[in-house]
Amino acid sequence: MQLRVTSLPGDGIGPEVILQAIRVLEEVAGGFGHDLELDEQEIGGAALTAFGNPLPDATIQACLASQAVLLGAVGGPAFDHHPRELRPEAGLLRLRQALGAYANLRPAVFYPVLRECSPLREEVVKGTDILIVRELLGGLYFGQPRSIEGAAGRRIARMAFALAQNRGKRLVSVDKSNVLECSRLWRDVVTRVGREFPDVQLSHMYVDSAAMTLVLKPAEFDVVLTENMFGDILSDEAGGVVGSLGLLASASIGGPIGLYEPVHGSAPDIAGQGIANPLGAILSVALMLRHTFHLQREAECVEAGVMSVLKGGFRTRDLARGGERTVKTEEMGTQIAEFVRLAAMTDGSSEGISASA
Ligand code: IPM
Ligand code: MG
Repeated sequence: MQLRVTSLPGDGIGPEVILQAIRVLEEVAGGFGHDLELDEQEIGGAALTAFGNPLPDATIQACLASQAVLLGAVGGPAFDHHPRELRPEAGLLRLRQALGAYANLRPAVFYPVLRECSPLREEVVKGTDILIVRELLGGLYFGQPRSIEGAAGRRIARMAFALAQNRGKRLVSVDKSNVLECSRLWRDVVTRVGREFPDVQLSHMYVDSAAMTLVLKPAEFDVVLTENMFGDILSDEAGGVVGSLGLLASASIGGPIGLYEPVHGSAPDIAGQGIANPLGAILSVALMLRHTFHLQREAECVEAGVMSVLKGGFRTRDLARGGERTVKTEEMGTQIAEFVRLAAMTDGSSEGISASA
C-alpha cells in the first residue's frame, strides 16, 4: 500500500519526537511491505522564522497532496509578543481548518506498568481508559460558527456516539450549560443525536465538575465529548492522571486528510536536550495507521512496541521514578523501531512483501 505522509516537525521538542516517530513509521513500511512517501515541511515558529508565515502555502499544498499529516508541536517564547495571526499557534489552527479536521480524538489510557507515574493511587486510576472527543474547528477558540446548530454541531456528536458504540457504550458530554447559551444548544443537539444511538448511555456534566471527576474517578469515563477549549484543558489533565502528558497521542479526523500529533506541545524548557518522551508522537503514528490507512495489524504492532519497551524498563525522564535509569529520546525510538522490525519479520510480513514485490 502507498502511504503518502507529510511531516511537520515544528518547534521545541517537535523535531526530536517526530524524528523517532518517522523512524518507527519507516520500519513499519519496510517490515510490512508498504511504500512510504514522506514530505517534510515547515509550520509554526520554524515557518515564521524561515518564511514569515506560520503556515506557508507550500506546507498547505504538501499536506493537501498527502493522505495524512504527522505534526510535532508549535509555539515557543520567542513568538510571545507576535500579533495573533503571526503566532505559531495560528498556523496550526489554520491547518486544522484547511484539512477539515473537526474531530480530535485523544485517548488517555492507564498502563499498569507505569503505576508509579500517576500521582493518583493505583486503586483510583486502575482501569482508566478514556477517549476524549474534542470538537476542533469551533467553540471558544474561534467564536465561529455562532451556533452549533446544523451539520457542524451534529457531526461531532455523531462521531463520538459511533466511537462509543465500539467501546464501553458510555458517553459523557461536557459543557457549561448552566452559564453559556451555546452550551445549552450543545446539550440539546447532543441529546437529540443521542436518540439515534439508544445502545449508548448518555450523560451530561458541567466542565468544572468533569475536571474534578477526572481526578477523583477517572476509571468511570469511557467517551468524553466536548468543545474545543474544554477538550484542550481536560486532555492535558487526563495526561497527568495517567502518568505523563508525554504519552498522549491524538488523531484529528473527519476531513479528507487526517492530522496526527502528540498532545504535549513544544515544551521549550526541555527542547534541544534529547530527553523528550517520543511515545506520544509514536502512538500518533499508530493512530494514523489505524484511522487513515486502516492498517490494524501495523497499528497494533507499534502499540505493542511501546508496551514492550515500557515493560522492558525503558523510561524517558518524565516517566522515571525513584532513581530509575533514564534513556534519551533517540534510545526510546531505537527500541521501538527495533521491536517493529523484529515483529514484522515474524508476523507474516512476508506476504506483504511478496505482494508488493
Ligand atoms: C493542543 C495545543 C494546541 C491547542 C495549541 C498549540 C494551539 O494546546 O493541541 O492541545 O490549543 O489546540
Ligand atoms: Mg493543548
